[in-house]
Amino acid sequence: MNLNELNRTCQSCQKCSLGKTRRNLVFGDGNPASPLMFVGEVPGQQEDATGIPFVGKAGQFLDDMLDLIDLDRSKYYICNIVKCRPPENRDPLPEEQDACMEYLRTQVRIIRPKLIVCLGRIAAMRLIRSDYKISREHGQWVQRGQFQMTALYHPAALLRNPRSRPDTFLDLKGLQAKINEVCPELYR
Ligand code: URA
Repeated sequence: MNLNELNRTCQSCQKCSLGKTRRNLVFGDGNPASPLMFVGEVPGQQEDATGIPFVGKAGQFLDDMLDLIDLDRSKYYICNIVKCRPPENRDPLPEEQDACMEYLRTQVRIIRPKLIVCLGRIAAMRLIRSDYKISREHGQWVQRGQFQMTALYHPAALLRNPRSRPDTFLDLKGLQAKINEVCPELYR
């Protein structure tokens, strides 16, 4: 299966109740040939309206953050753990996350990134370790099979809590160094 076929399968998904309330399924955006992948939590209102991940306030803040290390969406791929917006922006239920995980696994298998960056605690707990502590472990890299993974504070959390921004600036510098080590072609 290629990425377009997977996207088409997802677009008609009714595996959980979010299939009934979404306006658009938010599959992913950016460059699927990139070795760098970001994984967020769940689409919000703007994402649901447009079908594109990270286009609301948090997304604009993420764009500004990544601009600091010369990354734009032509250089990475971005998607979410859960591909449909829960009503009233509630947190996705465990069964909704479970229903969606296989799509993300297939996305990763097709794209085969070298670096995966989790955005926020929920993504890190799903992808790195169920007891991941983002306040202690953000910015640290772990090897997982073919790829290396880290987590950054979620951009929405950084909007709410500006005091974490200096830490994230250091984590971004760490990501830039990791790109230069593992996939320097991104910066050419
Ligand atoms: N927050 C997320 O985690 N993902 C989005 O797509 C938008 C906001």
